Amino acid sequence: MNKNDYIIRLETKKDYREVENLVRESFWNVYRPGCSEHYVIHVLRDDLAFVKELDFVMEQKGRLIGQNMFMKTIIEVDDGRTIDILTMGPIGITPELKRQGYGKALLDYSLEKAADLGFGAVLFEGNIGFYGNSGFDYARNFGIRYHDLPEGADDSFFLCKELIPGFLNGVTGVYQTPKGYYVDDAEVEGFDKDFPPKQKLKLPGQLF
Ligand SMILES: CC(C)(COP(=O)(O)OP(=O)(O)OC[C@H]1O[C@@H](n2cnc3c(N)ncnc32)[C@H](O)[C@@H]1OP(=O)(O)O)[C@@H](O)C(=O)NCCC(=O)NCCS
Repeated sequence: MNKNDYIIRLETKKDYREVENLVRESFWNVYRPGCSEHYVIHVLRDDLAFVKELDFVMEQKGRLIGQNMFMKTIIEVDDGRTIDILTMGPIGITPELKRQGYGKALLDYSLEKAADLGFGAVLFEGNIGFYGNSGFDYARNFGIRYHDLPEGADDSFFLCKELIPGFLNGVTGVYQTPKGYYVDDAEVEGFDKDFPPKQKLKLPGQLF
C-alpha cells in the first residue's frame, strides 16, 4: 500500500451506485451466500440517524476502493439514562485491495473525524482481529451489553472504542442497534436484481 495513492473524502450523490456496487463486491459471500450490505447502505442514507458528515469514500486513480459510514444510536444505561453514541458500518474495501492496509487507513481517518465532531464512543459488531489494531476492545470490558443477547452467550463480536477517553467510565448498560440495519430479505433480493449477476456460494466460515 502506498500512503499517497488515495484520497478519503465525503460521499456524494453521484457516488451512490458505485459505492453500492463496491460494498456488494466487498461483502459478497463473506458472511452469507450473497450479501445484504449494499441494500443496507442504500436504506441507511435516508435514515435520520445517518451521520452525513461521516460518510466516507476512499478514491484511488478516479475509482472508489473503499467506503465507511456511521449512525447515531444509544446505550440504555442501567440507571435509567440514555447516552448518545455512534455505531459504524458497513465498511468495505474492494476485494483485490483487501489486507494491504487500506481498511485500517480508512477506519483510522473516520474515527479521527468522528472524534473531531465530539462523539464519545463507537460500538458495533466486528472482528477484533481487524478492529483491535485501531484501538477497539470487547464492549463487555466497558460494561456495555449487546441487546437481546442471552446471558453467558459469546459476545466477542461486540466491540467498543472510546473517542473521548473515560467517556464510558461509570456506565453500564445495553447497546441498541439502529433499526435501519434490519432489512427484509425479499427487499434485498429485489434490489440485487439491478446489479450484475453474481453467484451465491455457501462457504466455510460464513456466519449465516
Ligand atoms: C474488513 C476490511 C474492511 C479490512 O480492510 P483491509 O484493507 O482488508 O484490512 P487492512 O489491510 O487495513 O488490515 C489488515 C489487518 O487487519 C486484520 N484483518 C483484516 N481482515 C481480517 C479478517 N477478516 N479477520 C481477521 N483479521 C483481519 C489482520 O490483522 C490484518 O493483518 P494481516 O493482513 O497482516 O493479517 C476488508 O477486508 C473488507 O472489506 N472485508 C469484507 C467486508 C467486511 O468484512 N467488512 C467489515 C464488516 S465488520
